[in-house]
Amino acid sequence: MRRSLIMGVGSALPERVMTNDDISKIVDTSDDWIVERTGIRSRHIASDAETTRSLGTLAAQRALADAGMAAAEIDLIIVATSTPDLTFPATATLIQADLGITGGAAFDLQAVCSGFIYALTTADALMRCGQSASALVIGSETFSRILDWQDRATCVLFGDGAGAVVLKTGEGQGSNADRGILASCIHSDGRYSDKLYVDGGPSKTGTVGHLRMEGREVFKHAVTNIAAVMEETIAAAGIRADDIDWFVPHQANRRILEGTARKLGISAERIVITLDRHGNTSAASIPLALDAAVKDGRIKRGNLILMEAMGGGFTWGAVLARY
Ligand code: ACO
Repeated sequence: MRRSLIMGVGSALPERVMTNDDISKIVDTSDDWIVERTGIRSRHIASDAETTRSLGTLAAQRALADAGMAAAEIDLIIVATSTPDLTFPATATLIQADLGITGGAAFDLQAVCSGFIYALTTADALMRCGQSASALVIGSETFSRILDWQDRATCVLFGDGAGAVVLKTGEGQGSNADRGILASCIHSDGRYSDKLYVDGGPSKTGTVGHLRMEGREVFKHAVTNIAAVMEETIAAAGIRADDIDWFVPHQANRRILEGTARKLGISAERIVITLDRHGNTSAASIPLALDAAVKDGRIKRGNLILMEAMGGGFTWGAVLARY
């Protein structure tokens, strides 16, 4: 059975770090409030020179180096982003050019915070059907550009960054002992599009717009939807929550990720948490967390990892992989 193997992982963060105290000089908030409600202590904020493209390219180069593969081997690039450099062409094609790749296909995928899960699922499907042999799946965001820096309820939550994985097809036995992506489930429900959205866009307003959110509503749906899709994905692979070595969630809010882990009986020591220093980087948060835990030696080859996310749309999903 054809499997999509994770060959390498990389990430990139803007140079500038913005602490909660820095934000409290802009809006009426405090380090205590932000830490208690979210777990976030600081985030990275892109300079004018740092963009979704430049951060994504750097993360991709680091993932390729980690995989020991040449850019020329890549025949598919998917960039999950809600903050592209330009309305078009896709940031994926800009990164393709930066990497010196001239063949294959490159496109952006927009599923907000669930973007990386959607992109992994899409790449895996294209690889298993033989359309692609080696793919770069990138989550890259500059959410600082779409924040309303006068809205304390949202501007404290997000940060900028990028993460990438290199996938390559390999043969497995078809069992959950195989390496690679073992199961994935994605969902959406557009009835909730007004709970978390950006109030601008090319067709409706001709502007970029700002992020708007009903935080409590999002919170309520997040724990329910994420726990359900995690259970669905675990069941699809025929494993038990106990078998999971590392839970690598989308980094939105410490209470959301600890609440969902608790619902499934995953212990706190097995959760990879980077939101304290990254904030919520939307589609970039899972590969950023994955890279941190691989590089510090927590995630090892053969480990079973469960990734999940929920975001605007609403969209949500989970991917189970053996690293
Ligand atoms: N600093 C100080 N006070 C604040 C701040 C702030 N940064 N933001 C809001 N407040 C105030 C509000 O004005 C309100 O004051 P009031 O009671 O006088 O009216 C009070 O704090 C409570 O506000 P709530 O919005 O009800 O606070 P809540 O406890 O729900 O926490 C939060 C807000 C952290 C946004 C929470 O709802 C949440 O995490 N929701 C999930 C949202 C999320 O993670 N979105 C990311 C995208 S989706 C995803 O990735 C899953």
